[in-house]
Amino acid sequence: MSGKALARRQFVKYLLGSPLIAGSLLGGLGPARLFAGSMMRDEAAIPADLAERLLAPVASPEEALDVFDFQRVAQRVLPPAHYGYLATGTDGDETLQANRKAFEKVYLRAMRMVDTSAIDTRLTLLGQELTSPIVIAPAGSQRAFHPDGELATARAARSHGHLQILSNVTTVSIEEVIEARGEPVWFQLYPTTDWSVAEKMVRRAQRAGAPVLVLTVDLNSGSNRVAMQRFIKLDDRDCSQCHDSDREDSWLDRKPMYTGTDATTSGFDTPGMTWDFLRRLRDITDMQLVVKGIVTAEDAASAVQAGADALIVSNHGGRGEASGWGTLDSLPEVVAAANGAIPVMIDSGFRRGSDIFKALAMGADAVCVGRPYLWGLAAFGQPGVERALEMLSVELAMVMGQMGTATLKDIGPASIGRH
Ligand code: FNR
Repeated sequence: MSGKALARRQFVKYLLGSPLIAGSLLGGLGPARLFAGSMMRDEAAIPADLAERLLAPVASPEEALDVFDFQRVAQRVLPPAHYGYLATGTDGDETLQANRKAFEKVYLRAMRMVDTSAIDTRLTLLGQELTSPIVIAPAGSQRAFHPDGELATARAARSHGHLQILSNVTTVSIEEVIEARGEPVWFQLYPTTDWSVAEKMVRRAQRAGAPVLVLTVDLNSGSNRVAMQRFIKLDDRDCSQCHDSDREDSWLDRKPMYTGTDATTSGFDTPGMTWDFLRRLRDITDMQLVVKGIVTAEDAASAVQAGADALIVSNHGGRGEASGWGTLDSLPEVVAAANGAIPVMIDSGFRRGSDIFKALAMGADAVCVGRPYLWGLAAFGQPGVERALEMLSVELAMVMGQMGTATLKDIGPASIGRH
C-alpha cells in the first residue's frame, strides 16, 4: 500500500474510532437497519457481534461492496448537521421508506439462453449520446460533504461518462463544473418569486453551454425535514464560519450561481408557480426544458401540453411531501400519460442495479441517483463517487445479462412482474 493510501486508511480509522462520530445518530444505522437495506436479509440468524464486523465501515473506495458501504462511512465522517441534510426525509420519513419498499413489489423475470456476451447500455436522450442510463441527480451544497464538492462529482462523472445535472444551489459555479466535467452539464433551477433572478441564472447557464434546463417543481411550499432538525440539534460545533446566524441570507454568499442576481432568501418558496412558468421559460431560452418532480398522470399530461421536452418522476428522494408514495409506484401512470411523446426519467431511492433495471422495464428512459454518489463523495471524495457509479453500472450490466437483455431496448414489460 502506498504511503498516501496508508495515511488515508489511518485517518479514516481514526475518524471511525472517534467516540464523537462512532455513536449511532438518530438510532440510525445499527446492524438491524443496515441488514434491512442489504442483501443479507435474514438478520435474526446473524449474531449482533458478527453483524457489526460484517458491516464494519470500509477504509477505501475499493473495499465497498455496495453503495450502503459509503452511507456508513458518510454517517461517521460528516458533522451531524451535514449528515442530517443529506439523509433527511420529511415528517416521519414515510416517502423515503415508500421509495425503497416500491422495489420489493416488483420482481425480475429471467429469460435464459440469450446471447448477452456484449452488454450495451448506450442510449440517446434529448439528442445526447450517453453510454449509461445512470444520471447524476442535482444536489445542492456539495461542499458540505467534501471540500471538492461538485468538482469531485464532475470529475467522477467524466471518468465514467455519466450525464450530470447541476443544481442551481451548487457550491461551485457552472463554468467550473463544465470545465471539470469536460462537456456541458444540464442545469437545474429552483426559481424564486422574483422572475429576474431566474432569468439571469437561466441566461448564464445557457451562455455556459448547458443544453438542458431542469425545472424542479416539487418543493414549492417547503418541506418538514424533521430528521434534519434533529441532527442539527446534535451538532455542537461553532458553525459561524460558514453559517452567519445574524444574516438569514448568508448562505447565498456561498452559492456562486446567485452572484449578480440580487436574490434574497425571502422568495424561495414559490407556491404561486403554475405551468405558465414553464411557458415563460420557453420564451427566454433555447435550452430544452425538463420538469423534475412529476408523480401523477395529470401533471405529466399538463407538462407535455406546456411544452416540456422530458420529465423526471421524482419526490425529491422523499424530501418533499410525506405522500408515502414511492416513485416506482407512480412511474406507470406518468409513462402512460406521456405516451411516448417525451422521455421519462425517474429518481428517488435507487440503490442497486436491479432497482434501475426495474424502472427501465417499466418505461423509464434513464434513472437519476442522488444519495448513493453523495455518500461516496462524503466518504472518499472523487474516488468515492467514481466507485459508487461503477458499482451501480456493474450491477446493472450483471442484471441485464441475467435477464437476457443485452441492450436497453431489450428491457421491457416482460422483464418484470408484480407480487
Ligand atoms: C437533493 N435533491 C435536489 N433536487 C433538486 O432538484 N435540486 C437540488 O438542489 C437538490 N438538492 C439535494 C440535496 C441533497 C443532499 C439530496 C439528498 C437531494 C434531490 C435530488 O435531485 C434527487 O431527486 C434525489 O436525491 C433522488 O433520491 P435519492 O437517490 O437520493 O434517494
